[in-house]
Amino acid sequence: MIPGGPLHRGGFVDQVIPGRAEGASTPLLQVRDLTVRLGPVAAVSGLSFDVHRGEFLGIVGESGSGKSVTAKAILGLLPKSAEISGSVRLEGEELLGASSETMRRIRGDRIGLVFQDALAALDPVYTIGDQLVEALRAHNDVSKKVARKRAADLLGEVGIPKPVERLDSYPHQLSGGQRQRIIIAAALIAEPDLIIADEPTTALDVTVQKQVLDLLAEVCQRREAAVMLVTHDLGVVAQTCDRVATFYGGLLVEEADVFTLFDNPRHPYTRALLRSVPRLGEDSPFEAIPGSPAQIYISLTACPFAPRCEHAQPVCTAGVPPEFWEGTHRHRCVVAGRGEL
Ligand SMILES: Nc1ncnc2c1ncn2[C@@H]1O[C@H](COP(=O)(O)OP(=O)(O)O)[C@@H](O)[C@H]1O
Ligand code: SF4
Ligand SMILES: [Mg+2]
Repeated sequence: MIPGGPLHRGGFVDQVIPGRAEGASTPLLQVRDLTVRLGPVAAVSGLSFDVHRGEFLGIVGESGSGKSVTAKAILGLLPKSAEISGSVRLEGEELLGASSETMRRIRGDRIGLVFQDALAALDPVYTIGDQLVEALRAHNDVSKKVARKRAADLLGEVGIPKPVERLDSYPHQLSGGQRQRIIIAAALIAEPDLIIADEPTTALDVTVQKQVLDLLAEVCQRREAAVMLVTHDLGVVAQTCDRVATFYGGLLVEEADVFTLFDNPRHPYTRALLRSVPRLGEDSPFEAIPGSPAQIYISLTACPFAPRCEHAQPVCTAGVPPEFWEGTHRHRCVVAGRGEL
């Protein structure tokens, strides 16, 4: 481990993640030192972050950076063979190591899920109405008629036109954007405290993406639910998120509120990601990040970005960079931490 300098804090399981307003409530979700190994792959290493009620947290990073594994670890959806350590608490309740029955209850009642592939999440042989009514009745002791009325209300809430007629449609009769809205409606049935959306808009065109994300943000605010949005698209994050965490090689390499992250990124990987986002109204073509994404075997022993980093120095491979804090902004770049970037 590299000596962290005055800004370094240790990675303790009960470590306080500063940065939320003084006296802020207990976090809804508290992830501490989460480490996941899948066979030979160190998919996630020593991950700590909080999600507060009403907050929209973006998790960004290239393909393979550990975003989906993190989401699945929180939801108890990793394969049995996964080696998991650390802590994931939902309002104080430890979820790591909870029984599959408990995790089914948590997924049913407390954490809603929105995945990329809405078509795969809906059953092609049942109408939208049948599927929503069944889900509603699994959560509420209500008649079919009442459930159907609530299903129509939910479709209205997520902006589906002519909701009553749409109840009788089959999934293939709807557009991709409408299907994704229905998945959001389905995720809302249990009135979850947290919605985890893993690349929910990747398959949609840009205008529809924006509508679906605005909808998620609006519903989250109205219901005081939190959203954890997993995406590889920083443009999407800029439009919706309050806070952003950048992942690289299974490591959380930077986290800040969205304005700070975009105005003053500290980690060379975040900077490279930002340079790779095409900007509206600018002629300069976006820059691809040179090299290939990290694939981490066995365990992390150095900065995972070092092979691609133009600022790399021997100190970067002497150990995993510790966290450096600048107010509520944290990052894991040794060189930036020394004030040399
Ligand atoms: N079921 C699995 N078995 C083995 N390795 C996996 C499995 N799922 C993901 N991985 C590996 O874990 C790492 C993180 O993957 P993932 O979280 O899916 O990345 P992403 O950021 O693209 O969502 C990758 O190296 C991936 O190859
Ligand atoms: S720690 Fe070193 S290799 Fe890693 S991002 Fe910072 S300068 Fe680059
Ligand atoms: Mg993924």
